[in-house]
Amino acid sequence: MKVLVVGQGGREHALLWKLKQSPLVDTIYCAPGNAGTAADGINVDIPDSDIPGLVQFAKDEQIDLTVVGPEAPLCAGLVDALNAEGLKAFGPNKAAAQLENSKVFTKRILRRANVPTAKYEQFDRAEAAMASLDTLEDGPVVVKADGLAAGKGAIVCKNHAEAKDAIKRILVDREFGDAGNELIIEECLVGQEASILAIVDGNTIIPLEASQDHKRALDGDLGPNTGGMGAYCPTPLITEEMMDEIVENVLVPTVHTMNTEDTPFRGILYAGLMLTETGPQVLEYNVRFGDPEAQPVLMRLKSDLAEILLAAAEGRLDQIEPLEWDERPAVCVVMASDGYPASYEKGRPITGIANADAEEDVKVFHAGTKLIGGEPHNNGGRVLGVTALGDNIFDAKRRAYEAVRKIRWEGAWCRKDISDKVRDLIEVDAPAES
Ligand code: AMP
Ligand code: GLY
Repeated sequence: MKVLVVGQGGREHALLWKLKQSPLVDTIYCAPGNAGTAADGINVDIPDSDIPGLVQFAKDEQIDLTVVGPEAPLCAGLVDALNAEGLKAFGPNKAAAQLENSKVFTKRILRRANVPTAKYEQFDRAEAAMASLDTLEDGPVVVKADGLAAGKGAIVCKNHAEAKDAIKRILVDREFGDAGNELIIEECLVGQEASILAIVDGNTIIPLEASQDHKRALDGDLGPNTGGMGAYCPTPLITEEMMDEIVENVLVPTVHTMNTEDTPFRGILYAGLMLTETGPQVLEYNVRFGDPEAQPVLMRLKSDLAEILLAAAEGRLDQIEPLEWDERPAVCVVMASDGYPASYEKGRPITGIANADAEEDVKVFHAGTKLIGGEPHNNGGRVLGVTALGDNIFDAKRRAYEAVRKIRWEGAWCRKDISDKVRDLIEVDAPAES
């Protein structure tokens, strides 16, 4: 089978690496890809925004399955365009991708499905939004632009003064453009966050093992929000009992309601959850694998991903055997460019990747990298996702950071505390310091 992965981040490298291990896959392409996907597959120089270009390539090359990594092409209708040409694709169509493309849409679905989520109100006029705050007691709230805003559209506000500023930024200054035509004001929830990803074919739901991202730039969850500075899987925050509850009270009613609303969901349903004192609540849905969650999740998956994603695209996930997982936990540490998440320099040579990769059960997934003169250089904010399996989470962390230390470029940095959030929950002898 010929497979095309669309995208260029760490998630896409992890998808390509895992799909390529399938005996079903003969050739695998990545459009546009990075230095890592060029080493493990064949890069195609088509950006993920060029829908006609991608469809033409898939037609010309007779691609059997296209796996779409990022949300933007899904929300723009890439899967619809491929399907219209009779080409198979894994991912939601444009209508179903609204679960990520519109917070207003998602809140409506959650309400209809009776899924636990923060209380909210929606607005398209700043005066009305601000006036509604005046009817509430001053305190924390979350203001969210309706549309896609590269992870920056959710503004957690300590008080109403900050919330009014956020409303102004979205509806008056139009900082997020049309993504800010509407906004929601939401109750601020407290707890740990976890990512639950499930593979869905419209009817059957196959949950993947739970993971936890680290969204803030600095250790101890300080500093600005980023795309994600590291993740680990599984997370003991989600017990087996909780997982059953999440499937029953969150995933099943959501998939069912998407069907009754005539927007059936196929692809990855990613629930961003807040684990509150009263139980898990949905903060958001994404409609694709998490980045960097995909890296540790896919590192642990033993089953044939190509077989599963093809079955999902064909609506026959019910025929898939239960997933098999490596018992060992995985930790992914993101190495970033100096300055990220603000501006940073590109084009610096990276050394030591092969050395780190040579370690057993370590994989260096590329994100913002590019080959220049045959050598990898940094080409984005998040540059590498160094991922390791270990006998326990402490061992996985130690091994990931040992691999990180072998890699160098000017200005490289990472968080030092990936996976520490659950240190106290795990019953093994933790090393004094790693
Ligand atoms: P979202 O784009 O909706 O996932 O929001 C991004 C981040 O903002 C989440 O990962 C949370 O850290 C935070 N967040 C979003 N909604 C809430 C909420 N209702 N209460 C507290 N934090 C939130
Ligand atoms: N890691 C968060 C996301 O993929 O949205």
